[in-house]
Amino acid sequence: MNRTVACVRMATHVPTDMDKEYVVFKGILIEKDDAGYRASLQHIDEAQLPEGDVTVRVSHSTLNYKDGLAITGKGPVVRKFPMVPGVDLAGVVETSSHADYRPGDRVLLNGWGVGETHWGGLAQKARLNGDWLVPLPAAFSPQQAMAIGTAGYTAMLCVMALERHGVTPSAGEIVVTGAAGGVGSVAIALLSHLGYRVVAVTGRTGDADYLHGLGAAEVLDRAPFAVPGKPLGKERWAGAVDVVGGHVLANICAATRYRGVVAACGLAGGMDFPATVAPFILRGVTLAGIDSVMCPRAERLEAWRRLAMDLDLSRLGAISHEVGLGEAIALAPKLLAGQVRGRVVVDVNRV
Ligand SMILES: NC(=O)c1ccc[n+]([C@@H]2O[C@H](COP(=O)([O-])OP(=O)(O)OC[C@H]3O[C@@H](n4cnc5c(N)ncnc54)[C@H](OP(=O)(O)O)[C@@H]3O)[C@@H](O)[C@H]2O)c1
Repeated sequence: MNRTVACVRMATHVPTDMDKEYVVFKGILIEKDDAGYRASLQHIDEAQLPEGDVTVRVSHSTLNYKDGLAITGKGPVVRKFPMVPGVDLAGVVETSSHADYRPGDRVLLNGWGVGETHWGGLAQKARLNGDWLVPLPAAFSPQQAMAIGTAGYTAMLCVMALERHGVTPSAGEIVVTGAAGGVGSVAIALLSHLGYRVVAVTGRTGDADYLHGLGAAEVLDRAPFAVPGKPLGKERWAGAVDVVGGHVLANICAATRYRGVVAACGLAGGMDFPATVAPFILRGVTLAGIDSVMCPRAERLEAWRRLAMDLDLSRLGAISHEVGLGEAIALAPKLLAGQVRGRVVVDVNRV
């Protein structure tokens, strides 16, 4: 059946007590057609789920920056329509023909194009390729795993990149940009727990207490970082976690110490990189690119193992807040406008 036609039917189908449990489930659906680009909460027929060898009963998902772009249509994230957004999910396996998973197993998923090219986590059910799943670490509830989500797992990949390139706590200060956002908040909590001196760069200096509470030793205003600077500045940073890009990333590279490492993972401030090669060829600075989406399985398992070990779970309450599935759509533009602090967990069973 043509999927667009099927979705028109989904939108008008209201489940009754006669419906078999979970044959119809609730989810956010993004559509793009002659009527425009829109995201809405719908009742979705299970028969419409994409192919996959594991069906997961989702309990929690999240709202990441990328999900904000997908829901609002402000960035070309969704590449197939209709699409259920949500690059993260946690839940319980309902059915599986994959050798590694049995009904009842607790699982989580980050990335692999889910929410972009394959229906994602902002729904009560998902059908997936079992190779994409990660067993939920025993240390976390599904809600806690989603409080970490792709943002937190990416923060861990950044920390692992700094370590891989030899940046130790004794090497000097680590600067974290986009500090009050999801990646930034978890990066500060992780780095401070590991003994690094962390300097937070934020547009929200009014949230300094929050950032100090996560473990930032110092909080700096983003403004001077966000304007054109010199090719090389005074050496300060032993390492960096940058989620902003643009002039902020260029200025951080210019002030990174000899043989320091900059882990670049985001573009919240822009896609461009108006820099020179001077920091790289004169100071041996390493620019380490971080991608969470297609990150090999062994590295993601290691990242989640490290999160279970190195993230102080008592910080998660301050970093995250929970909303229902129905609230996620309205929150998306606020997230993109930098008005949402930390992480958003979505309880998909609360509408
Ligand atoms: N490479 C990957 O695999 C990967 C994975 C996850 C995320 N990301 C990317 O990382 C970035 C952050 O993700 P997130 O989930 O942490 O998003 P988020 O929770 O929305 O946080 C982004 C933060 O960036 C800062 N910011 C927002 N707009 C800005 C602007 N115009 N100029 C400068 N700074 C700005 C704000 O920090 P302050 O509030 O402190 O000012 C904001 O809180 C996004 O670009 C996202 O796409 C990449």
